Amino acid sequence: MKIAIVGAGYVGLVTGACLADFGHEITCVDSDASRVAALQRGEIPIYEPGLKELVASNEAAGRLVFSGDLAVAADAEVVFLAVGTPSRRGDGHADLTHVHAAARALAQHLSGFTVVAIKSTVPVGTGDAVAAIIAEANPAADFVVVSNPEFLREGAAIEDFKRPDRVVVGLEDERGRAPMAEVYRPLYLNQAPILFTGRRSAELTKYASNAFLAMKVTFINEMADLCEAAGGNVQDVARGLGLDKRIGSKFLNAGPGYGGSCFPKDTQALVRIGEEFGAPMRLVETTVAINEARRGAMADKIIAACDGSVAGKTIAMLGLTFKPNTDDMREAPSIAIIGALQAAGAEIVAHDPEGMAAAQGLLPDVAMAAGPYEAAAGADALVLMTEWNAFRSLDLARLKASMRGDVIVDLRNIYRHEEMERHGFRYDSVGRPVAGMVGAE
Ligand code: UDX
Repeated sequence: MKIAIVGAGYVGLVTGACLADFGHEITCVDSDASRVAALQRGEIPIYEPGLKELVASNEAAGRLVFSGDLAVAADAEVVFLAVGTPSRRGDGHADLTHVHAAARALAQHLSGFTVVAIKSTVPVGTGDAVAAIIAEANPAADFVVVSNPEFLREGAAIEDFKRPDRVVVGLEDERGRAPMAEVYRPLYLNQAPILFTGRRSAELTKYASNAFLAMKVTFINEMADLCEAAGGNVQDVARGLGLDKRIGSKFLNAGPGYGGSCFPKDTQALVRIGEEFGAPMRLVETTVAINEARRGAMADKIIAACDGSVAGKTIAMLGLTFKPNTDDMREAPSIAIIGALQAAGAEIVAHDPEGMAAAQGLLPDVAMAAGPYEAAAGADALVLMTEWNAFRSLDLARLKASMRGDVIVDLRNIYRHEEMERHGFRYDSVGRPVAGMVGAE
């Protein structure tokens, strides 16, 4: 199939590379000429495991090309809109400027019957708006608009695309069904269900999924606080909880709160959508507030572990990105936590395997170190912020010898109290109180 993808950002690139790998003929179009030129030189603007290789092999096979010219959409059977929908400044609504502009620009190039598939995360009703924009800009266009939300996790996006739990396609016009089934035909081999729904249901499903997962994470985070107060171990509670098949074990790792490009923006947008339709999303609203407050609470936890003050102390921060296997710093909890520690007088030295370049601009007063041991050298305390594999088996004796202090705060629960104590550390983690340890009663 001939497919065009408008927007060569994270979602557009992953979608384009994976669909090309399915055997389709893909053109990724972006209005940013320098981005297109870079992609044509084989440079991938984001870090996503396996993406560079997948793009290269499909380009070499002639199935994937990059272009700045939307005219290529003319002979595409399906055109995906995969442009960004950031949070609108001030009100938390999704900013649809790029989606509307892309629809308008696309309209004049449509020829023959075309399915316009919205992949960008958009509020309910956007499919109707996009259809109206195209019809107005080009009354002769023969097209249908379908909603086809993505559920990709950064760091595992290719795997998620090729082996999804489900594909959701929302349509109002049956003519969209067969082409979309054809786009995803290879997935039938993986037995992924392709769920056809109404367009509004598909749009809502995306927000419902992200909000539900954000609530799940937030629930276990609050449960961790209760474990600390009451003397339970949140990992045991999570295991017991997750074995119930109705609940499931995923997204029950307590930590510093969710971040990233989706959960914070989509939960806020869902709250706004609920308000707009007079159907308040109260659980989600509370989730947003709890998650925001958690950053300050994590800074307080670190300060408490440092005997109540970080003034004049050096804190080594391992991990800056919102999660491992990405260079994405968007809404990373590290930003607010570091800000609070600096405001309390701490010096921060950080290391992140992929995120330091992006972090440098956001955190100008943080010294970046070449590795975890370099970051720890001379530090009074060490904070494990992101659970990169590289931090899972640190040489604790070496760390202890190079640090000035003996405090480790593990915000991802990747170490055990016993091993830390054996190496002479005072150790605190999330929701796992141990009598006598830092932070315990
Ligand atoms: C998410 C959704 O998973 C994906 O389906 C959607 O398309 C985009 O948003 P992503 O933002 O890449 O993907 O990250 P994800 O792995 O879902 O993690 C989100 C946040 O929750 C991270 O900050 C992560 O650290 C946190 N998290 C996740 C936890 O704190 N604990 C968990 O158990 C799981």
